[in-house]
Parts: sequence; structure tokens; C-alpha cells
Amino acid sequence: MLNLIVSKTILLIEKDVRASTSFSLLDSYGLIWLVRYNSTLEQNQTVQVFSMNTHQLMITLDREGEEPIYKQLIRNIKAQIESGVLPAGTRLPASRDLAKQLNISRISVVNAYAELRAEGFVSAHAGRGTFVSRESNQPENPAPITTVTENSSPDTSIRDLMRLSRKPGVISFSSGSPPTDFFPINSLREAMNYVLDRDGSDALKYEVPEGYGPLRAEVRDYVSALGIQCSSSNVLITGGTQQALDLVVQALVAEGETIVSENPTYIGMIDIARTRRINLHGLCTDHEGIRLDHLENYLIDNNPKLIYVMPTFQNPTGHVMPLHRRRQLINLANTYNVPILEDAVYHEIRFEGEHIPPLKALDDTGIVIHASGFTKMLLPGIRVGYIITDGQHYNRLVRVKQAADISTSGLHQRIIHYMLARGVLSGQLERNNRELMRRRDAAIAAAKQHFPPGTHLSIPDGGLVIWAELPHVGPTAAELYISAIQQGVAYAIGSVFYTNGGGAYRMRLNFGAHPPEVIDEGFRRLGRAWRELAVDYADMDKSPLL
Ligand SMILES: Cc1ncc(COP(=O)(O)O)c(C=O)c1O
Repeated sequence: MLNLIVSKTILLIEKDVRASTSFSLLDSYGLIWLVRYNSTLEQNQTVQVFSMNTHQLMITLDREGEEPIYKQLIRNIKAQIESGVLPAGTRLPASRDLAKQLNISRISVVNAYAELRAEGFVSAHAGRGTFVSRESNQPENPAPITTVTENSSPDTSIRDLMRLSRKPGVISFSSGSPPTDFFPINSLREAMNYVLDRDGSDALKYEVPEGYGPLRAEVRDYVSALGIQCSSSNVLITGGTQQALDLVVQALVAEGETIVSENPTYIGMIDIARTRRINLHGLCTDHEGIRLDHLENYLIDNNPKLIYVMPTFQNPTGHVMPLHRRRQLINLANTYNVPILEDAVYHEIRFEGEHIPPLKALDDTGIVIHASGFTKMLLPGIRVGYIITDGQHYNRLVRVKQAADISTSGLHQRIIHYMLARGVLSGQLERNNRELMRRRDAAIAAAKQHFPPGTHLSIPDGGLVIWAELPHVGPTAAELYISAIQQGVAYAIGSVFYTNGGGAYRMRLNFGAHPPEVIDEGFRRLGRAWRELAVDYADMDKSPLL
């Protein structure tokens, strides 16, 4: 039985919490507060919560899986230490208590703790317990290779925490969405009416899996302006870029096989790998993208089925791969015969700097599969994306697409076709990019004014996000999160983008989401939350929490 020693009152900020359950909150010190109740709670109701003298570890176990339970425990605990959820000095539950909590054998916990001790993650003190001994302040790329597998859930508790960004009154910089005030609603109405008048019920029939013919031709012309020469028989229309990525993974990578990617990487690819039971190895990056020396070493020793990269305005770092590295990457892929999946969803959202051709424009062997979509530039809710690929993969992709959803909505495809053909997209891009630059500049100015000295910012020439690193003298991004929510601001916690651990002080901020004055206010709140907490950090007694 865990010992409850401290209590405090909190304001319930999550809605719809059901009766007869309990939930836990992570406070700004990384302490877990356990909330138990018997009746349905209302939003904004105050409730009594209890802090435990040990952390209650949030651990997800796959009891059916092949990985031994003790190894799953090790992986979960390491990830929480590395991401800052379990700071140095935290006392872990006694092996008996953890075994009981998770309904596993005590020997599994004893073995896991022993291995964590051997690797220096925890230390044991006779009669007092097991304590986290390692700080989470790892360098940006702690290890050349890190892996996420289907059952690894380094960030599930952190991702759950980020749902708090939806609390009313919070200025949220956490999503990857384009600004809602950019959405071309009038053009959408016009397009929909036009299409329905013109095509009637034809617009609502099953479409062929390859996609609506006139849209495929329009996409062919559209990408040729970006440097990609193809025919419309190379274009497969998908339900957004996310589905494009998922279809390519399904077509090329079997369960248990491996994709190699940048680390950090797009969270949607982490999800694909996890749900499709595929390994995702993240490799070191620098400001020019994936490190090719690491990639080559990896390709020599391993047998990945796909290289996944975002060469332009990488999510979350915003980095752009220069032309020479693009060419070298393609050479490497050809040498080792591993296809590249190029995710170009931010390619056209450039407001500064020179256009650099997509990888597909530099590919003369068909090694590159290009995925993109119109969601970031037009409307995320009109789910239209595309894959450009050569014959060898095309037919298989069509079959996988058909199995997935028969076809992308014919109405949505016609709407996007109308918007491309009538110049709505080019008009939007020009206006949006101008405004995004204004918001980016406002965000940089506000960050310089309000963020703590020593914060490192990457300043992108395009895309929607800023990648920031807090100084290591204060809280990690995960530790800061609840205080930030209390101050009325939210961001994406950087560690969720890593394939396994790392990025404890990183956060991703969507500067596009708000106009300049709201950005300023949001960043002011964030700076205030950090300063309030950092004072406590300076004074904090680093001895174990007992
Ligand atoms: C890098 C990247 N790829 C793909 C997607 C998915 O985009 P879509 O809305 O087109 O499915 C996103 C969305 O955030 C993204 O950031």
C-alpha cells in the first residue's frame, strides 16, 4: 500500500472525468498527484489530491508480447528518466509495491531495478529504497541510434498530459495545424457549389482508388513547377499526407522490419511504426538534417526497408537539408538500394530563402517516393494528399489504398481540383506565407523578450513551428507543462518527437497559430511560468523526496 503524506486542493481542469475511477496529475516538480473520487466531477470543481511519497510509475505493459516483462519495465523507466518525467532523486516504488500495482511477479521488478542500477540509471540505498540517479539533461542527440518499437511508449503519459492544452482560456502553441483564420471558407463554399452543380451525384460515387483523373493531372502539373517531372500515372491520391505515409509503410515494410529516420521526427510516423509493429530507428541530425555518416554506418550494419525524411522544414526542428546533402542522400540510398520516403508537406510554406528542389526532383532511378498534400496550405479537414512514385511501387500502393478505404472522397478531390485549377491555392500560399513571416518575426521578438536567457531558438525560413531549447538550469519542458497550463499557455513537449528519450528541455511552438499580439501574450505567460518555477529550482533541496 502506498503511503499518502501530503495533500493539496486543485482545480479540476479536465472535463468529463467519470465516476469510480482515479487519475494522476504531474505537477511542476515532476511529482505525481493521485486523485481519487467516487462521484462524477464537474469541470472547474476543486478536489482534494494526494501526493505519494514515491512516484507511482505510469507503465504500459504488453502482457501478450514477446518482450519479457522486466525488459519492458526497464525501457519504460529509462524513457521516463531520459525525458525528465522522473528527475534525479526521485524514489521509485518498492519492488513489492510496483509488482502489486502492475500485477506482475516481484522478480521481474527486482531484475529490472538490478539492470537499471548496473547501467547507472538508479541507485539503491540500503533500507531507504531505489532512487533515480541520472539527470535527464542529455545532449540534443544523446545516442546515434534510438528506437521506437510497437510496444514502447516513451511518451504516452506526456502525450496524455498535453491534452490539457485544450483547456478553455489556454493560448495553445502545441498543435501542428495551419492557422484556422487562414482557411479559405468562401472558396470552399464556391467550389462545393460549383462541383455539385456540375457533377451532381457523380461527385459522390465511389472514386477509382488511384484518384479523380483531372486531379491527378492537375497534381502532375503542380509538382512539375516544383521540379518533379512525372506523368499522372505516377500520381496516387490519398487521404492526406498521413495516409500517404501509412500506405507507403504498409506497402514496403513488414511487421518487425525497420524504418530509419531523423531523430527527432514527425510524431505521426512514430504512431504509424508503433501501430504497424515496425521498428523506427532515429539517427542523429544536425542543422542540415539527417547525418549521412551515421546513416551510412547504419545501412552497412542493418537492413532497413525505408529511409523516412522531411528535407524541407523538418517537423519539429524546422531544418532544411541543403542541395549537396540531398544529392548525397540519394546516392547513399541508391548504393544500398533502400527507398527514401520523402515527406514534403511543408515544402511550399516558405517565406524566406531560396527554393531547394525536393528529393524527388533529383531522383533519376525511382528510389524516392514523394508524399505531400494540400492540408497545410488549404484545409486540413479536406483530406487530400498524394504520392508520386514510379511503376515498381505504384501498383502495390494502389492495392493497399483500395484495401484501406477504397478511395479518397470524390467530392473532396473535386474541391481541391477546383482550387488548384482556379488559382485559389497559389493566392492562399502567397497571402499565408506573408502573414506567417510576420508571425514568425513576432514570435522571435516575443521569445527574446520573455523567454529565459540562455533559451536556444531555431529560426525557420518556413513551416509553422519554432523549435526551442530551455536553459538546463531550470525545469524540463515536461516539468514546466502544468505550470504553463496554470498560467494559460501550452506547447508541444519536445521529448514526444524522439524515437526513444532525449529532448528533455525542448519544446515546439506553432507560431502560425495566432496573431502577433496573442503570440506576445502567450510567450509572456510561458516566460512567467518558467521564472516562477526556476526560482524553486534554485532553492530546491536535491535530496530524495521522502
Ligand atoms: C511532417 C508531417 N507529415 C505529415 C503530416 C500529416 O498531414 P496531413 O494533414 O496532410 O495528413 C503532418 C501533420 O502535421 C506533418 O507535420
